[in-house]
Amino acid sequence: MSSQNATAALSPREKYYFLARRLHSLTGLMFSGFVCFHLLVNSTVLVSGESFQYCVEKIHTLEHMGLLVPVEMATIFFPIAFHTLFGIVILLTSEPNMTDYAYGGNIRYTMQRWSAVVILVFLALHIWHMHWLGKPFGGAKFDPENATTTAAAAMQSWSLWAPIYVLGVMATAFHLANGVWTALITWGVTIGPRSQKVSGYVCAGLGAFLLVAGLGAVRGFMTYSVARDGGETAIVEHVEDGGH
Ligand code: HEM
Repeated sequence: MSSQNATAALSPREKYYFLARRLHSLTGLMFSGFVCFHLLVNSTVLVSGESFQYCVEKIHTLEHMGLLVPVEMATIFFPIAFHTLFGIVILLTSEPNMTDYAYGGNIRYTMQRWSAVVILVFLALHIWHMHWLGKPFGGAKFDPENATTTAAAAMQSWSLWAPIYVLGVMATAFHLANGVWTALITWGVTIGPRSQKVSGYVCAGLGAFLLVAGLGAVRGFMTYSVARDGGETAIVEHVEDGGH
C-alpha cells in the first residue's frame, strides 16, 4: 500500500503522528550517516596520532569558513535532538511487544528500545566530555588543535571512561544497524522476506564493522601515551603493549 493510500483514512492527529514517525526515521538515518563517519575518523588513531590530527584539521577547515557550527547544527544536532525527543515519546507510549513479531524480531524490538536508553545517557556524557557544548559545565576536554593528545588524555583521565565508551559503542552499533534495517522497511525499500533477509545480512555486517571501528578507536586512545609538560600535553609514542 502506498503511504498516500495509507494516510488517506487517518484523522489529522494520526496524520501528524505518521509524519512525526517518518521524520523520526529520517533523522535516525541522517544521524546514522554521521555516526559512521565519526567512528571511522576516530579509528584513524590506530594508524597514527598524526592521521587522526590530520582528519580533525580537515574537518575544522569548515570552521575557518564559518561553516562548522551551522553544518553541525543542521546535520547533527537538530536531527539527533528531534530523533531523541520523539524517541522518548515512542519509548513512553509504545505498547510492550510480545505478540507482533516472531521471536527474533521481538528481541530486536526490545533491544532497539533498551539500546536507545543506553545511547541517551552515553550521548549526554560524551557531549559533556568532549564537545565544546560541555565547556560551561566543566567538560569539553577535547581540543581540535591538539586532537590526539587531548582526546587520549580525556579518555585516560578516569578509569570508568573506557567501559562507558565500550558500552556506548556497542549500543550504538546495534541500534544503528537494526535501525537501518527497519528504516529500509519503513521507507518501502525492502518489502518482501527475501530482500529483508539480504538487507539483514548487510546491516549485520555494517553493525560489526562499526563495532570494530568504534572499539578500535577506544583502544587506540586508551593506549596512546600522553606526556605532561608544564600543563601542556605532548605526543610521546604509541604504547604498543597497552600499558602505561
Ligand atoms: C547513535 C545515535 C542514534 C542513531 C544513529 C539512531 C538511529 C535510528 C534509526 C536509523 C532508527 C530506525 C528508524 C525506522 O525504523 O524507520 C531508530 C529507531 C529508534 N530510535 Fe534511534 N538512533 C540513535 C539514538 C536514539 C536515541 C538517543 C533515542 C531516544 C532515547 C532513540 C530512540 C529510538 C527508538 C525508540 C526507535 C524505534 C522507533 C520505532 O519503533 O519505529 N534513538 N534509531
